[in-house]
Amino acid sequence: MAGPESRGPAERLTREIRAAGNLGLTAAQLARVVGASRSEVEGALGELERRRLAVRVGHGLWIDPALRDEPALAPGFVGPESYLSEFTRAHRIEVAEFGGDVQFRPNTEEPVHRWWPYVQGFSAGLVRTAFRRCSIGPGATVLDPYAGSGTVLTTARSAGALGIGVELMPISAFVARAKQLWEVPPLELERRAARLVRSARRAAPSPRPFLRETSRHFDPGPLRSLRQLRACLEPSGDETDQLLRLAFARILVDSSRLRRSPCLGYGPKPRVAPSAPFELFERAAGRIVEDLRRLQGARSTWGPRAEVREEDSRGFSPAEGAVDLAVTSPPYANGMDYVMNYKLELAWLGFARSYEDLASLKQRMVACDNLPRAALALRGRLDVLEADEWLVRVLRQIRGQLGQKASYRRSDMDRVLEGYFADLWPTLRSVYRALRPGGRYVVVNGDSFLAGVYVPSDLIFARLGVAAGFEVEGLEVARTRRSGQRRDFRLRETVLTLRKPVAG
Ligand SMILES: C[S@@+](CC[C@H](N)C(=O)[O-])C[C@H]1O[C@@H](n2cnc3c(N)ncnc32)[C@H](O)[C@@H]1O
Repeated sequence: MAGPESRGPAERLTREIRAAGNLGLTAAQLARVVGASRSEVEGALGELERRRLAVRVGHGLWIDPALRDEPALAPGFVGPESYLSEFTRAHRIEVAEFGGDVQFRPNTEEPVHRWWPYVQGFSAGLVRTAFRRCSIGPGATVLDPYAGSGTVLTTARSAGALGIGVELMPISAFVARAKQLWEVPPLELERRAARLVRSARRAAPSPRPFLRETSRHFDPGPLRSLRQLRACLEPSGDETDQLLRLAFARILVDSSRLRRSPCLGYGPKPRVAPSAPFELFERAAGRIVEDLRRLQGARSTWGPRAEVREEDSRGFSPAEGAVDLAVTSPPYANGMDYVMNYKLELAWLGFARSYEDLASLKQRMVACDNLPRAALALRGRLDVLEADEWLVRVLRQIRGQLGQKASYRRSDMDRVLEGYFADLWPTLRSVYRALRPGGRYVVVNGDSFLAGVYVPSDLIFARLGVAAGFEVEGLEVARTRRSGQRRDFRLRETVLTLRKPVAG
């Protein structure tokens, strides 16, 4: 397996190791994934290690060497403390601690939110805190310009308020809309879910989605069951059908050999039984039924259905002053490639029908470090970005680092970061416009560490907010997290509160 004739398996191992990212994989896990014997895999790994394509760390985990070659700190390195103290001084605020959970996890126990466990989402508790602080209740209007799975919109409806969400990813926009369908009769959903499973067990499987790796994504048994279930789904049916489609979307990763933690990739996972998709589907639909029953007992407290706009938030042009509060979590700098991460759901639900569809969607999403060079070249360079001293400084430092070291994942990381802020800027301005005077913009964001340079992305976002007309009202640290590039480096996640001045 290790010789030149075995380029194929060695390439597969390299691919698996890269896909596992920081988590790494053991030789035994790799043997399972590539379907080779442990000793063959160990021989090939030795060869990959000599060729510097894989490296063994910790207790036998194999990772991509790029992840271990922790970048050296850039000359003239400026760290978090110094940015934070300059920021707090300039805006006359103190950094506080945010006393609640910001991550999505607790939502998996909450009615409606649990219909779609969205690792990239934030907690409904955080949104409720923002509502409480800003006295949001019946009659208020709340905006989320990166609505994701609709945590803000669901919480708005529960609070009696109107939610407006903008979300470009069709699967997320679909989920956010489906999570507003509280009027669907639970008994009808229960009956139709049971009928659908009965018919699916006998149905001819639907065609496979276009994804080339479908037979690698799934074992043959569960793949067949999923195709049977899909054959019985109604793509453009009534609201009950939409909830059935949501239940189906939810079970795709659980029925596969993949995990999302938070990126989609292979990893150790118990085998999925051939009929598991039927049971998972019934369970997913059952949770929705249960929540609808509970919700419908308190109908009088609901707000109107939220408005979900499936569009690029860069082009969103809201009515002026109509919004009382905006709450969001934008994509993070150097963050997630949402399109690749949700390609399974996009393809199986028919939101993307080809690789071209996926590529064109990626092109319109906020820039991430998976964006092809050509697409990045189309991104604007904005004066306001050039005017922000901190951004100019970190871009210069990153450029300097890239010139020094050829092994960073991409040599145009500075352009990725610039593109990222250029993408956030028009939305920041539209949110400013949308808010009534005195209205707040609460933003959950994180800082980053790129090519040996510390990037206070959350604070740069705040400074751009000030350039758009906002005042900085507060900054709370919600939690710390480990940098993927330098494991000893602690990054943070913050809750920023901006305010549109009353006499603005
Ligand atoms: C951190 S997630 C928001 C999660 C959300 N707070 C929740 O709890 O579900 C950021 C979202 O921004 C969306 N997004 C990225 N680029 C966008 C764009 N150009 N326009 C609108 N939405 C975009 C992504 O699809 C993703 O759902």
